[in-house]
Amino acid sequence: MAGRWSTMRLSRQRSPFLVFAVVAVLNALLFSSFQAAATNLKPEVLGPLGRTLLEEAKSPELFNWVRNIRRKIHEYPELGFQEYKTSELIRAELDKLGIEYTWPVAETGVVATIGSGEQPFFALRADMDALPLQELVDWDHRSKVAGKMHACGHDSHVAMLLGAAKLLQARRHELKGTVKLVFQPGEEGFAGAYHMLKHSALDNIKAAFALHVLPQYPVGVVASRPGPVLAGSGRFTATIKGIGVHAATPHLSKDPILAASMAVVALQQIVSRETDPLESRVVTIGQINGGKADNVIPESVKIGGTYRSLSSQGLIDTKERIKQVIETQAAVHRCKVELDFMEATPLPYPVTENDEGLYEHAKSVAEIIFGKPNMQLLPVTMGGEDFSFFTQKMPAVMFVIGTNNKTQTPEHLHSPYFVIDEEALPVGAAFHAAMAISYLDRHGGGDIERDEL
Ligand SMILES: *[C@@H]1O[C@H](CO)[C@@H](O)[C@H](O)[C@H]1NC(C)=O
Repeated sequence: MAGRWSTMRLSRQRSPFLVFAVVAVLNALLFSSFQAAATNLKPEVLGPLGRTLLEEAKSPELFNWVRNIRRKIHEYPELGFQEYKTSELIRAELDKLGIEYTWPVAETGVVATIGSGEQPFFALRADMDALPLQELVDWDHRSKVAGKMHACGHDSHVAMLLGAAKLLQARRHELKGTVKLVFQPGEEGFAGAYHMLKHSALDNIKAAFALHVLPQYPVGVVASRPGPVLAGSGRFTATIKGIGVHAATPHLSKDPILAASMAVVALQQIVSRETDPLESRVVTIGQINGGKADNVIPESVKIGGTYRSLSSQGLIDTKERIKQVIETQAAVHRCKVELDFMEATPLPYPVTENDEGLYEHAKSVAEIIFGKPNMQLLPVTMGGEDFSFFTQKMPAVMFVIGTNNKTQTPEHLHSPYFVIDEEALPVGAAFHAAMAISYLDRHGGGDIERDEL
């Protein structure tokens, strides 16, 4: 006993050195394996392959095919978890290409498989849903569905991934592992990625890659950054209930308009007075509804908003404070409140955090294929994205791809005037395919455990 005690005490005393030594050895190992792996991305190998992929994607045959797919989907936009036609179109094209797939995955989702069927599994993801928005662009392929529009470019995400499917299928015998093409429903607030990841079709995926179009960059440019790139974001509604009466007898009311007004004002302190100015958070109330007449105090008022943060703790803390502030303000005004943070959806979306190793890999691929000036560092923004569920579960990285040209001023995502220059489609198809091939080259051949990112 005594002996053991003394060894334990000894080892405890030594532990800082042990920790130091272990960390140093691990660092050396990781660094040398990263160096070794990085040499697999040889420009003399990837350069010619990448140029061939890009040339093929730009060939009139493949380009017209991909563009037609994009236009068809653009004409018939479908909202989250209702992407039945889109899913059908994807499956019809996969059938023609002779690519196997699992369906339905999370209602309308499709997971196609290309390659050896062996590990490593590398996922390429495209979202399929549109937005509840009336298209205001006047062009031949404008949305034929009133009040629905692909204003976030998911139509082109699907088209680019099908383009990559064609490029990869032609090389299926050379792939050193398996590519999973993930066509995902419900990105716009429905957490489609979360629901797909629960399905066994997405088990054992080693890493994932996704592209998002962005009109703020010109065609030919791609951009991203390591670490947090998009905010974690949640939504909420608060229904504040009081007692409604005629405006002439305010003393008989419990006024929910006053309670809601105070709540909206008080919520502003969360960011301006409780958050470190060097930390990034957002609290925005986007809707407020209540009352029908100028001379009646209504029974209830509903407010709705969003909150965002670049850290998981920030999200948790912000949500807790929103709850406290609204409940307290309602109580001060003798009202009751029902809060809904839509957790069943599930919201919030986590922070989208790009894996550093995979980011470096994708950056090398982009620099080799598109040239160094066309690989840019993307600023962090407070937008949200459900690819974050992938980044939480596995090494994953999201890139944006430029869609603008000099003849137009860039519109924002979700604008009813949103347009893309379709010359971006082959860039995306080639980038997807090059990422998959190079990832499998680097990690395939049975060495996945040693080389895992
Ligand atoms: C620029 O993009 C628009 C579509 O957004 C397209 O109609 C136009 O032809 C493109 N212009 C050039 C010069 O490529």
